[in-house]
Amino acid sequence: MKGKMLTKQTNQKIFSILTASLVILYTNAFQYNVDLSKRLASYSLVSYCSHNRLQDWSCGEACQRVEPLKDLIIYTNQNDSSYMMGYDQQENAISIIVKGTNPWCIDDWESDLTTEKIDYPKCESCQVHKVFYQTLLDMQEQLKKDFLKIRSQHPQSKIYATGQSLGGALATLIVPEIYLLNGKKPIDAFYTFGSPRVGNLQFSFWYTSKSYFSKISARVTSNKDIVAQLPPRSFPFLYMHIGHEVFYKNFSNLHEFIMCEIPEDQECSNQYTLDFSMKDHGSYFGWNWAFDIFTC
Ligand SMILES: *[C@@H]1O[C@H](CO)[C@@H](O)[C@H](O)[C@H]1NC(C)=O
Ligand SMILES: *[C@@H]1O[C@H](CO)[C@@H](O)[C@H](O)[C@H]1NC(C)=O
Repeated sequence: MKGKMLTKQTNQKIFSILTASLVILYTNAFQYNVDLSKRLASYSLVSYCSHNRLQDWSCGEACQRVEPLKDLIIYTNQNDSSYMMGYDQQENAISIIVKGTNPWCIDDWESDLTTEKIDYPKCESCQVHKVFYQTLLDMQEQLKKDFLKIRSQHPQSKIYATGQSLGGALATLIVPEIYLLNGKKPIDAFYTFGSPRVGNLQFSFWYTSKSYFSKISARVTSNKDIVAQLPPRSFPFLYMHIGHEVFYKNFSNLHEFIMCEIPEDQECSNQYTLDFSMKDHGSYFGWNWAFDIFTC
């Protein structure tokens, strides 16, 4: 009882400090581009499909929703995390789509999504989820090569980054790397869908205040999506989301959503504290993610 109250007070204090500071630090107005968000979500769904089907863009329903990417590069590590990047002709953009482990293939989220943190060297006292960070380190060299290669093919294009679920978490760590590789110029858009939390308070604060990693960005959430609630922000886990949130109750009208400027806002997905849903994790944009992924 006592411990609980303490946690609550600490959290409230943390949130009020964070809120006050962020109001000062935010320079960019929070904009959300529904069409672009949907487009990047559709590429995120495609990224789950088998790679030989992606080469000729024949991955069923998922591939029919969106045009093939040109100059496609796909990299997969030994633990089946991967990214793909390619040139989106319609948008004149290099799109980087990050995929984590298939969330519907994880039998036991409790044990697979451990909560252990590790130091994150880019900012002071920052810690991030250990497995996400190790995956980043594992991919980093290849990511650099691949990005510089496609950048040299499309030096003037825009740059987008995206990912769903664990891919969203990994994309969150990849974006600052791309920012550096891009000569410390912000990328053009960064949208995640149902991303878990990635790091601690300091990481959230650092990341969110550096909104210049990307010109526009949002963490899109779907109603009671359980993955967006993991790892917990409560004691002893103390994880915190980053950045702006765009919260959908449902996707019957894509233009009906709530925008929350700061992380962990009670108006958005934090309004739920108990009843979470895996179904909502696979409902982004009204598609049946679990089905589409198993059939592609
Ligand atoms: C792959 O997963 C295993 C078991 O979780 C882990 O020990 C290893 O470090 C991971 N390797 C990479 C490259 O992420
Ligand atoms: C969808 O969400 C909106 C609020 O964003 C709500 O008004 C509407 O009733 C919901 N529709 C369904 C079918 O749940």
